Formats: sequence, C-alpha cells, structure tokens
Amino acid sequence: MYYKLAPSVLAADFTKLGEELRAVDEAGAQYIHLDVMDGAFVPSISFGMPVLAGIREATDRVFDVHMMVEEPGRYVEDMRRCGADILTVHAEACTHLDRVVNQIKEGGMRVGVALNPATPISALDCILGNVDMVLIMTVNPGFGGQRFIPYTLDKIRSLRRRIEEQGLSVDIEVDGGISPATVRPVLEAGANVFVAGSAVFGQDPAARTREFLEIFKEYER
Ligand code: DX5
Ligand code: ZN
Repeated sequence: MYYKLAPSVLAADFTKLGEELRAVDEAGAQYIHLDVMDGAFVPSISFGMPVLAGIREATDRVFDVHMMVEEPGRYVEDMRRCGADILTVHAEACTHLDRVVNQIKEGGMRVGVALNPATPISALDCILGNVDMVLIMTVNPGFGGQRFIPYTLDKIRSLRRRIEEQGLSVDIEVDGGISPATVRPVLEAGANVFVAGSAVFGQDPAARTREFLEIFKEYER
C-alpha cells in the first residue's frame, strides 16, 4: 500500500502562499489539497478558479481538488483548465452523480466521490467500480480545524473491505481533524490518502510534512 499526504491550502497563510507551497512540496508532500466552497453546499466560501490557476503555477504536485459545491458538474471543464489532476465531488451535491463521474473521466482527470460523515457507504454501491478515489469526510465539511469524528473509522474499515472483496484498486482519502496524533488508527482502518490542513500549516509546514511522511514509512516497510 502507498500513502500520500495532501496538505490543505485552506489552512495556509495566504500572505505567503508561494513560500508555504514550496515548503510542503520540497518536504515531499505528494498532493496539494484545494477546497472549493460555494457558500451553499457548505456555509463558507473559500476560493475559486483564479486562485487555483495561480497556485497551479507555483507547484507541479498532484492537484487534489475537493468540490464542496452544489451541482459541481457545472465546473468540471473549469477545473480541468485550472489544472486539477483529481476532481472530487460530493455524492450529496450531485443530482446525477453517474453523469458527473463520467464527465470528469472524459475530461482526463482522476475522479473522486466524497461522502459526508452521516452518508452511508451504500451510497457508493452503484459507482464504486467507476471511481479512482473515495473521500470519507472525517468532519462535517466547511471549516478547517475541527475535531475528527471517531465513528467514521467504521466506514473506512467497511469501505476498504468492500474494495478488496471486489478486487478494485480505489484510494481512500480522509479529510478533517487528521494530525500526526490521530493518523495511525485511520491508516490502520484502511485510508491511504490523508488531507491535513491545520496540522501542516501554521508552524513549520515542512517539519510537519516530514513528520507525517515518517509515520507513513513505518507502514510501508
Ligand atoms: C473541511 C475541508 C478540509 C480542511 C481540513 O471542510 O474539506 O480539507 O481544510 O482541515 P483540518 O485538517 O484542519 O481539519
Ligand atoms: Zn477538503
């Protein structure tokens, strides 16, 4: 199993964003996680296309775009143009999830489907074989710095089991309240892509990144 760290830009210092991105990039973070919020699907509004396009210039790490937006199918082409490598949409936000998943694939991006904490993994029954990644939200989406919700561990475990039973190769990403102190049980439950905002940015993002990567190495051995 491989493990990837996806520092969430939402928690970065926007007055020195280039510097912060360089720090996590050089320290070895494989993905950069970008939270797009519309003020409707979630209460907050974060950033959109011009900011993404700007950040794209600053790093060539994998762009992991998390759409917390109603009917994200409307923005698939915009996200492709901004350089998204993985585009993740919420099952709860898509009236026609199958169509959106196919749109993303046709755009040449990897596709992720996200589930809020209270959405059961059965919501993926019909679509699991057609996605590259499932994002299990481990907090209610909308804000950084929240506390990890423990019952999501069971969802991660049963999803990993299901993926294995079906012989699929699907990444499980987790997002919310992930830190060096909370990451081990989540990894042991079967997650392999870890979003971390406040645990990476704030104080010494490069050192925090290395701390996560050291933990991953213990499990990769
Ligand atoms: C929350 C966002 C997260 C957020 C995570 O809705 O999707 O990506 O930045 O922040 P932390 O790691 O601080 O919980
Ligand atoms: Zn996110």
